Amino acid sequence: EVNVDYLAVTALDLAGATVLERRVPVDVAHLDPGTTLDRLADLIREAVAAVEARSGQLAGVTLAVPGLVRDDTGGLSLAPNLGWGELEVAAEMRSRLGEPSYALLIDNEANLAALAAYSELRKDGRVQDLVLLTGAVGVGGGVVSNGHLLRGGRGYSGEVGHMPVAPDGRICGCGRTGCWETVVGLSALLHKATDSDDPVRDPSLDVEQRLAAITQRAEDGDARTLNALKDVGAWLGIGGAILVNILNPDVLVLGGYFAALGPWLKEPLEQAIRDRVIAPNGGGCRVVRSELGFAAAVRGGAQIALDQVFVDPTMI
Ligand code: BGC
Ligand code: NA
Ligand code: ZN
Repeated sequence: EVNVDYLAVTALDLAGATVLERRVPVDVAHLDPGTTLDRLADLIREAVAAVEARSGQLAGVTLAVPGLVRDDTGGLSLAPNLGWGELEVAAEMRSRLGEPSYALLIDNEANLAALAAYSELRKDGRVQDLVLLTGAVGVGGGVVSNGHLLRGGRGYSGEVGHMPVAPDGRICGCGRTGCWETVVGLSALLHKATDSDDPVRDPSLDVEQRLAAITQRAEDGDARTLNALKDVGAWLGIGGAILVNILNPDVLVLGGYFAALGPWLKEPLEQAIRDRVIAPNGGGCRVVRSELGFAAAVRGGAQIALDQVFVDPTMI
C-alpha cells in the first residue's frame, strides 16, 4: 500500500526564484486531518517568515490539495488518497494562522499544475487547449480549454484519475473499483514491477526515491520493469485517448510522476492517440513532458496568488 506521506512548502519571489523549500514526512493517511493541518500551519508560518524577512511583502499563500475543492468556498469535499472527506480547509487554516491579512487560496494540485503548464506553453505558439496529467499515488488532471481552466459546475472537473476504465480491476483510494489511477498510478507500477519484499517498496522511501529506483532499473534494461512500464503505458493510452476524443487538446502534458516516466510512457501514449482518437491526426494533439515536474503545482499556486494581487491592489 502506497500512501501520501509528506507535506511540502515552497516560497517563491516575484522573479520565480525559490526563497525557501521544505519537505517533511507526515503520515497524512494515518493521522487525523486536524493534526496534519497543524503541521501545515507550522510550515506556512516558516515560509511566511522567510518571505517577510527578505522583502516584507507577501502576495498570498496557496494550498495545493490532492482532492476535490469546492470552487466557491475553499472547502474540500474529498481527498481520496489522504483519507479526508468534507473539510473546511481554508477556514481551518485561517483560524490556525490567526486570520492572516494575506490572501489564502486553495485549489486542486493538478489544476494548479495545468495553469503553470499553460503559462509555459502559450509562450511558444498557439496553445489554447491542454490537458495536464500529474500525480503519483493518485492521478490528477487539469484541463485548460480556450485559455481557461475548466472548472465544471461546482469546481470538480478534471478528476481523470477516477475514470472507470477497468471495472474488474483493483480497489481505488476512493473506494470504487478500477479507476484509471489503479492502473496507471504508482501503486499499479510497483505491483507490476516489484515483489512485496522489494526494497523499492520499503515504507521509508518517498515517491521520488521510488521513482528514481524504478527509472534506474528501466535504464539498465530490467525486463520486469520495462514490462510494467509497457503495461502502464498501454493503460495511459486508453485514458489519454478518451480525454483527447472529448477535449481535442493541442497538447497533452505529462506532469509529475508521468514526466519522470516520460521516456517510457510518451511513445505508447502517442501510439494510442494515433490509433484510438477519431479526429484526423489525433486532432493535432502533441504529447510533451513537463519541464517543471512536481514543481508545477507550486508555480500555478504562485500564479493565482499573484493574480489575486492584481485583482485587488490594496492587498499590497
Ligand atoms: C484525486 C485528485 C488529485 C489526484 C492527484 C486523485 O486521486 O482525486 O483530486 O488531483 O489524485 O493527486
Ligand atoms: Na484537477
Ligand atoms: Zn477512484
